[in-house]
Amino acid sequence: MGELDGRITIVTGGGRGIGFGIARRLCRAGANVLIAEFNPETGAEAVKQLTDEGYQAWFHETDVRKPESVQAMVDAVLARHGRIDILVNNAGLAELGPTETFPVEQWDLQVDVMYTGVFLCTRAVGNVMLEQGKGVILNISSIGGLGAWPLRTAYNSAKAAVISLTENVGCEWARRGVRVVSVAPGVTRTAMLQQMVEEGRATLERYNKRTPMGRVGEIEEIASVVQFLVSDRASYITATTVTVDGGWTAWGNLPLEE
Ligand SMILES: NC(=O)c1ccc[n+]([C@@H]2O[C@H](COP(=O)([O-])OP(=O)(O)OC[C@H]3O[C@@H](n4cnc5c(N)ncnc54)[C@H](O)[C@@H]3O)[C@@H](O)[C@H]2O)c1
Repeated sequence: MGELDGRITIVTGGGRGIGFGIARRLCRAGANVLIAEFNPETGAEAVKQLTDEGYQAWFHETDVRKPESVQAMVDAVLARHGRIDILVNNAGLAELGPTETFPVEQWDLQVDVMYTGVFLCTRAVGNVMLEQGKGVILNISSIGGLGAWPLRTAYNSAKAAVISLTENVGCEWARRGVRVVSVAPGVTRTAMLQQMVEEGRATLERYNKRTPMGRVGEIEEIASVVQFLVSDRASYITATTVTVDGGWTAWGNLPLEE
């Protein structure tokens, strides 16, 4: 028996990367997971992989930026299962660039996916959970939302907003059975990171050196904290953000020794 046996779960942007790792980890703990993903190819592939491994997973094409798309996704879950126990707001993307020339379209895209999208999913699923008197919403923020990092004004501002949203909604719903928490991952080994390394926009060596633990995080290290936070073991945790960053945020001194 897994600790999340039968829990009806939604993971946005679960087609790849951290979202897929979370979906797989929650499946392994017994959850029934909907991959609510923008990209139909990766969404279907993720579900195939999970069901091939014997887990309960399905896919619904969803754009978290659009209220009607989010509501259709929620209606599909309710039609199939009649309730929602866990929502993981994970969908995201990173567009970097200098603030003084940053295109408004890229600003809007990041804010729409990572901030408004979190609000839209939280509102739609929150209504169901409040009616049930029970549920957990977990938002993936970032260490970027906890401090400054050049060329990432839009990304980091959106993530800081998610941290604030988590605190506000968590307090608002705290007496109504719905917990709202956030995980702020540090730099994590994903396809997105690999792509940035290949394009010369980042080097693993610099990230490793900047991290007190001397290495970037692994997807499984984020997913295991998510599993804890959405489980009943975390029943007294709400309206807060847990950093999973190998000490990155705490470090505020001269460059670390090699
Ligand atoms: N990778 C890191 O180092 C890192 C660090 C801190 C936080 N994060 C956060 O973790 C989350 C996952 O990041 P990742 O590295 O796995 O990225 P990723 O690009 O591999 O995955 C993001 C997923 O979100 C989906 N998505 C994008 N727009 C969407 C939309 N409008 N509706 C639904 N789905 C959409 C994408 O299709 C993709 O499958 C993001 O919120 C990211 O900001 C990542």
